[in-house]
Amino acid sequence: MSTLPDFIFAFKKNNAAPCPSLPEAEQLWQAGIAYRQQHFGFLDNRGVDIKDEYIFHTTGIGKTAAKIAAQIGLNSEKAQVMGLLHDFGKYQDEFRGGRFHGLVGYEAMKHLGFDEVAKTCLTHSFPKQDFDIKNYRFPEADMLVAKEILNNMVYDEYDYLIQFCDLLFEGLNMVGINARVAGIMRRYNLPFEKVQTLYKNGTALKQYFDAKLGKDIYDFLGIKDEDTLVGRSQTIS
Ligand SMILES: [Fe+2]
Repeated sequence: MSTLPDFIFAFKKNNAAPCPSLPEAEQLWQAGIAYRQQHFGFLDNRGVDIKDEYIFHTTGIGKTAAKIAAQIGLNSEKAQVMGLLHDFGKYQDEFRGGRFHGLVGYEAMKHLGFDEVAKTCLTHSFPKQDFDIKNYRFPEADMLVAKEILNNMVYDEYDYLIQFCDLLFEGLNMVGINARVAGIMRRYNLPFEKVQTLYKNGTALKQYFDAKLGKDIYDFLGIKDEDTLVGRSQTIS
């Protein structure tokens, strides 16, 4: 475990709950952005500033998770907090900082006693709990630790909800799973086999939430899935 930055130590919790209130979560979210801006900046590996994307992605997932949660009997504030903070570990830059954002977020939230958010920080990156380290581009040391922690976790509805919502935001757009997976393939120059689990899991999650809602979740959210990227010609077994 590496040292946490001062802004984490300086954060004062309002109570002992394992999940922050929305105002507390917003305060942490803003502090994380300010820290990254100051220490790393938001240029990605292509030299593109992704600060607005990060803001759109995390706030969008929070609001979308809350909207779905309210319809399926989950706590919508908790869902929003989870969405807003699932990528909290990006207060450091994965490429320049050299650490897997899921584990960085997990460690920070564990330190704060926000165990429920810590869990989401980790689970959102792993559609398969028993994942293959080779399929991830993150540092091996972090992945081995992540794998061990994940082995002792049981995924719940919030984990599935954030995994699903994470597949609906690409760049500055809200999209369907096809477009999102295609975007990930493009951005990291990955072959389809590498993202196949993500695609299959996303499709299964969509079916799960369609059934929970009793209607097509894309209609509910106003999403038109662009059938562009993955290409139906790819073998999806
Ligand atoms: Fe995310």
